[in-house]
This record gives sequence, C-alpha cells and structure tokens, in this order.
Amino acid sequence: MTERYSTIAILLHWLIALLIVGMVGMGLYMTGLPDERMSEKFELYQLHKSFGVTVLFLSLVRLIWRLTHKPPSLPGHMPDWERFAAKATHWAFYGLMIGIPLSGWAMVSASPWNLPTVLFGAIDWPHLPYFSTVADKKAVEGMLKEVHELLAFGMLFLLVLHVAAALKHHFINRDNVLCHMLPVVKPREESGKKQ
Ligand code: HEM
Ligand code: HEM
Repeated sequence: MTERYSTIAILLHWLIALLIVGMVGMGLYMTGLPDERMSEKFELYQLHKSFGVTVLFLSLVRLIWRLTHKPPSLPGHMPDWERFAAKATHWAFYGLMIGIPLSGWAMVSASPWNLPTVLFGAIDWPHLPYFSTVADKKAVEGMLKEVHELLAFGMLFLLVLHVAAALKHHFINRDNVLCHMLPVVKPREESGKKQ
C-alpha cells in the first residue's frame, strides 16, 4: 500500500505553490511598472500584500499540520545524502514560506511612506510594531527590500531543485515519491527500483 500525504496537506501544498509562483511573478511585474502608472501600481501592491498575508496564514496552518501529522516514508532505495537533502529542502521551504511574507510585512511596516495595507480592499492590516518605530526607516526598509528579494530568489532556486528531484524520482527511479503529493494519479505497485 502506498502512503500519501493527507488531503489537507496535498491541498495546501498545491494552493501555496500556485500562490507563491504567482506572487513572485506579480512582485517582479509590479516593481517594474513606471511611476506614471501609479494607480495600477498601487492596486497591484495592495493585491500582492493581500495574497502575501494569505500565504503567511496558509503556511502557518500547513506547518502546524505537518508537525502534527506523520508524512509518508521515503523509498528504501534512497541514499542517506538524498534523504538529508530532501528533508533539508522541505524545512527550508517552510522557513521561506513564512520568512518571505514576514520580510514583506516588516518592509511595509518600516516604510517612511507609512502606506496602509488593506487586505482585498476590506481588512485593515496593521504594521509590525517594532519596524514601524525604527529610527532610520529608509535604511531599514531598503535592507528589508533586499532581504525580501533575496529570499524570493532563494525560493525559486530551491523550487528548481525540488521539481527536478520530483521528476527524477518519477521518471528515473520510478518510485512513488511524486504520487505522495498527487491527489489523482494511481500509485505504482513497487516502491522504486534500486539505483
Ligand atoms: C510568499 C509571499 C511573497 C512572495 C513570494 C513575494 C515576492 C516578491 C517579489 C519577487 C518581489 C519583487 C522584488 C524586487 O524585484 O524588488 C516583491 C516585492 C514586494 N513585496 Fe512581496 N512577496 C511575498 C509576500 C509579501 C508580503 C506579505 C508583503 C507585505 C505585506 C509584500 C510586500 C512587497 C512589497 C511592498 C514589494 C515591493 C518592493 C519594492 O517596491 O521594491 N510581499 N515580493
Ligand atoms: C513554490 C512551490 C512549492 C513549494 C513551496 C513546495 C514545498 C514543499 C514542501 C515544504 C514539501 C514537504 C512536505 C512535508 O513533508 O511537509 C513538499 C513536498 C513535495 N513536493 Fe513540493 N513545493 C512546491 C512545488 C512543487 C512542485 C511544482 C512539485 C511537482 C513537480 C512538487 C512536488 C512535491 C512532492 C512530490 C513532494 C513530496 C515529497 C516526499 O514525499 O517526500 N512541489 N513540497
């Protein structure tokens, strides 16, 4: 019998993955817009912040779910280094899924412009207390921008490794790792061929 992640974990995995990829695209697009298109830019920034806070919430739920539910075991043929790499990547993802939105939230809190964040045009979202009162707001905001961007690119880098690993398991090792996270595909009988 092939183990799988629970339906909730699978749902959260794909929803968060989709949102994050969209958020990176939106972040790069909106920051590249010229100032003449200020109202569009402002709307997109609000949308980016709204979905970003959504990712933060979903990721916290997912982390709690993960800490309270056992994941499927990895196939027996995987060498120790590969198990370590898989686990390290997964925990780094959790760190980034929470760290990226937090750095964004800290950045807007430190901004000298003190712009409001209204989630989906409906919910007033507060600034983070510490960052909204720092002495040199401009410098702190600039530093947090760098951190936000760097973490987002770090996430993209990990994503390439993560997808490559999932495809390698499926098409080269021909084991069930990808099926752990797929809601619909029929799992394979064997847990993978030896390398
Ligand atoms: C998973 C969640 C998030 C991802 C993947 C993400 C990704 C990005 C990326 C790739 C950029 C463009 C960076 C650049 O080229 O300068 C960006 C910019 C930005 N993000 Fe996020 N972000 C996320 C969450 C948030 C949150 C929660 C907030 C605030 C509440 C936020 C606020 C901003 C702002 C204000 C900018 C524009 C910075 C500037 O003007 O240079 N982000 N984000
Ligand atoms: C930004 C996008 C993504 C993020 C943040 C992400 C994050 C994660 C995390 C944190 C886990 C570990 C689950 C756990 O044990 O708690 C995981 C597992 C997994 N992900 Fe992703 N993922 C993303 C995109 C993808 C994509 C595009 C694929 C498909 C090619 C994929 C395939 C998998 C598979 C197969 C597993 C299960 C691995 C196992 O059983 O050990 N992920 N992902």
